[in-house]
Amino acid sequence: MQRLAVFFVLAFCTAACALENGQMRTPPMGWLAWERFRCDTDCLMDPDNCISEHLFMEMADRLSEDGWRELGYVYINIDDCWSSMQRDSQGRLQADPKRFPRGIAHLAQYVHDRGLKLGIYGDMGTHTCGGYPGTTLDKIQTDAQTFADWGVDMLKLDGCYSNSSYQEQGYPMMSKALNATGRPIGYSCSWPAYQGGLPPKVNYTLLAQICNLWRNYADIQDSWDSVLNVVDWFFDNQDVLQPAAGPGQWNDPDMLIIGDFGLSLDQSRAQMALWAIMAAPLFMSNDLRTISSGARAILQNKLIIAINQDRLGIQGRRLIKEKSGMEVFWRPLDKGASALLFFSRRSDMPHRYKTSLKELSYKTGVYEAYDVFSERLLPQLKDSTEFVVSVNPSGVVMWYIYPVVEWKKEAGPGRFSKKLIGPKSHPHTNEVDAPFLLL
Ligand code: GLA
Repeated sequence: MQRLAVFFVLAFCTAACALENGQMRTPPMGWLAWERFRCDTDCLMDPDNCISEHLFMEMADRLSEDGWRELGYVYINIDDCWSSMQRDSQGRLQADPKRFPRGIAHLAQYVHDRGLKLGIYGDMGTHTCGGYPGTTLDKIQTDAQTFADWGVDMLKLDGCYSNSSYQEQGYPMMSKALNATGRPIGYSCSWPAYQGGLPPKVNYTLLAQICNLWRNYADIQDSWDSVLNVVDWFFDNQDVLQPAAGPGQWNDPDMLIIGDFGLSLDQSRAQMALWAIMAAPLFMSNDLRTISSGARAILQNKLIIAINQDRLGIQGRRLIKEKSGMEVFWRPLDKGASALLFFSRRSDMPHRYKTSLKELSYKTGVYEAYDVFSERLLPQLKDSTEFVVSVNPSGVVMWYIYPVVEWKKEAGPGRFSKKLIGPKSHPHTNEVDAPFLLL
């Protein structure tokens, strides 16, 4: 009942409250420079890792040649430290001439030629967090127009070096200015993160009207502690955050650090799964030139991407937080399906967690579940069937699950045939047939 209510409220809000720029109906996916490459501007000593057109062109090549683009990872996003310290003679932002000698418009063309989209970074204030020129109120129109002229497809607008009243004016103004350019530009607002992320200071109804996504909380760092810190904040505040999300309007728990230095493979699966439950934007910040096959397999798992990208766009919730360190999460999906996530915070050994779908508030019925990471179809189970999942320390087990109904067919009295609700059919092999979810 409660779930039904959440569904209807969201369905209404999606129709009535979203920013109507038609962008990002499912959470945006791509690559963002910040967490992995920060403000490295030392192209003399560190030419392969410094913030430069070279870095973004190389990542664009990888996105388009290594199977990422086809899976939906289409944004390639510049973060801080890209610009010159001075605006040009007409007051426009300009790229650092040494590190971006051909300018942003050229980079945008390069990215578009590969079927990708370019994101850029600005700051609603006097300076960016890295000390580069910010966008003051009088510069909003100029900057929006400059980005549109360059062919930019997304803007992350940070909030360093300003105050709350400045932000209150500036973020909506930029939304209008971007729309007025006539170029579709996805708009990521860091505003709530600077106001503590919660009402009454943050108005999520207003945010949904002006932004496509928003950073709610602190920056992610390359460590498991940091992932846990973000996850705790988002799920401790799920009653506020969960209803705010929907097609075109997403909470952003920050970048995926899978493929970097801080997470084990189990922790990487956990980050990916939790971000899918949260309907979070999937911006990887890693080095796609050297990423391990293990990290790549997690980031390229078709079924988990399909769960993240579910067309209903309903953010999931934490259902259970056990004293034992086990947590269970749930996200409703299209066509009566759902994602179930079992997460262990323990540090001893794989934990055998016993439960049933009934205990997790599933309706009476027969279900089929597909294990997202082991890529196996599980035996059918009733809501009342007790089962055990074995969850590794700081790891997850994730199921894509859908009801199986039996009904009477015209075929004649007494004849029954089975029909699946959810995916059209299920694979009896070990191959993932994920695209069925996208239908
Ligand atoms: C802030 C943002 C980060 C990043 C840096 C850049 O800290 O939250 O995501 O953009 O600024 O300086």
